[in-house]
Amino acid sequence: MLGLYDVSHWLIVMAIIYLVLPLLTYLLLPYIFYGTKSTKKRIIIYVIGEIGHSPRMCYHALSFSEHGYDVELCGYVTDSIPKDIIDDENITIHEIPIYENTRNTKSLLFLLKKVLFQIFTIVKQLWYLRGSNYLLVQNPPTIPILPLAVIYRLTGCKLIIDWHNLGYSILQLKFNQNFYHPLVLCAYMIEYIFSRFANYNITVTEAMKTYLVERFGLNPAKCFVLYDRPPHKFQPFNGTIEERLSIIKKEDFIKDFIPSDFDIIKGDKILVTSTSFTPDEDIKILVGALKIYEHTYQKFDNNLPKIICFITGKGPMKEEIMKQVANHDWKLCKIEFLWLSAEDYPKLLRLCDYGVSLHASSSGLDLPMKILDMNGSGLPVIALNYPVLNELVVHKKNGLKFTDRRELHESLIFAMKDPELLDSLKRNVILEAGKRWNSSWEPAMKEMKLI
Ligand SMILES: *[C@@H]1O[C@H](CO)[C@@H](O)[C@H](O)[C@H]1NC(C)=O
Ligand SMILES: *[C@@H]1O[C@H](CO)[C@@H](O)[C@H](O)[C@H]1NC(C)=O
Ligand SMILES: *[C@@H]1O[C@H](CO)[C@@H](O)[C@H](O)[C@H]1NC(C)=O
Ligand SMILES: *[C@@H]1O[C@H](CO)[C@@H](O)[C@H](O)[C@H]1NC(C)=O
Ligand SMILES: *[C@@H]1O[C@H](CO)[C@@H](O)[C@H](O)[C@H]1NC(C)=O
Repeated sequence: MLGLYDVSHWLIVMAIIYLVLPLLTYLLLPYIFYGTKSTKKRIIIYVIGEIGHSPRMCYHALSFSEHGYDVELCGYVTDSIPKDIIDDENITIHEIPIYENTRNTKSLLFLLKKVLFQIFTIVKQLWYLRGSNYLLVQNPPTIPILPLAVIYRLTGCKLIIDWHNLGYSILQLKFNQNFYHPLVLCAYMIEYIFSRFANYNITVTEAMKTYLVERFGLNPAKCFVLYDRPPHKFQPFNGTIEERLSIIKKEDFIKDFIPSDFDIIKGDKILVTSTSFTPDEDIKILVGALKIYEHTYQKFDNNLPKIICFITGKGPMKEEIMKQVANHDWKLCKIEFLWLSAEDYPKLLRLCDYGVSLHASSSGLDLPMKILDMNGSGLPVIALNYPVLNELVVHKKNGLKFTDRRELHESLIFAMKDPELLDSLKRNVILEAGKRWNSSWEPAMKEMKLI
């Protein structure tokens, strides 16, 4: 039997629940699940890397913005961000703080602390941005972003993985290709397990798609190949050679590097390569090939054209390579190291004759972005070959391929001495360069029903 006191007690509890319920459903739950949701579609693009050096993610951002999305672009911003991203009213940039390695240690403890720090900052940021319709992450890096992104799906956000490469294969490279190293195995498992929870999958090459379908069990019908394309800011030079020369002599970022006896009209050539000076991109091959080129000049053929080779970028092995270049007595070739802004880099490319790519893919499944930039600028490329490169460069059609220093040297001799070869390569490149990012992005997104 309930006493009168008990009944009123319950009534009060019911009343409180009755009053609190609307608060709960209309304020608290939406607060948790929707955050700052607006009527416009919203996408979070998460770049664990320098935004200014992640062109593909920037194109995604620009394209989504163009199609009426609000874009929350998260990434590191220690370097300059392309102007069109900053000026775009639909893109908001959210800086990810960097965990500084102040003591310069490479210990496991540091790695652990860094990952914990990243988890903390990512969770905080994603929480703040909750209520978005889509979350686009690139892979790699896989840890810790991929597991967090998968958990984030609980807020009703759809997850898109853009497969640039395989995270574990890059790690494997650091451990002498030992797949059974515990860290590599762990990375592989995380990648394998969490990638199954993506709503959409995008890959950069056919080969990557095939790999993911076979090894990770993706649904091939729902996985889209979205080739990188040269962005619009890379345009071929369309003037005469005299006009090109006069620009070269005027542009601040290169004019000081051009000696007075260097004459592109007579056939001297400008090469360019960009690199992050990591062990998987062996610039020494290029330096070595140029040394053989000089040797050939001195011993066999003193009609060879002069070469200026610009190497742009920075990274861990830069000092070492610069020292190596400085220690050689160059007669015919000149190697210059540059660090250019995102605006100057396209200007440099269009003034050169050939691009060089030394990118060796860790997974063998991705394509070097820099070749596309060169491609957009109308430069034939001399590229270090690996199987997937066939999806991009066809030998003697739109570029030349080599496998070692000696072959690079041979390619250089061809490239420097045969004006017809350069012309025909260039024609084919420019023909292709008309295909741009937009024209492959839109069909893929339409198919995924994102636009
Ligand atoms: C897509 O094409 C339009 C012109 O049609 C251009 O203004 C825009 O910059 C392009 N977007 C990207 C990301 O290249
Ligand atoms: C921003 O989004 C609107 C639609 O909401 C669109 O009309 C406009 O073109 C977008 N701005 C840019 C720079 O893409
Ligand atoms: C994306 O790939 C994962 C496996 O990695 C799969 O479970 C998921 O269904 C795929 N999404 C689509 C839309 O195919
Ligand atoms: C050549 O390039 C310049 C600048 O990129 C452009 O303004 C001009 O229209 C182009 N001319 C031709 C003939 O394509
Ligand atoms: C240039 O890019 C197109 C696609 O955009 C590609 O088909 C072509 O092979 C590329 N050429 C070079 C030299 O990279």
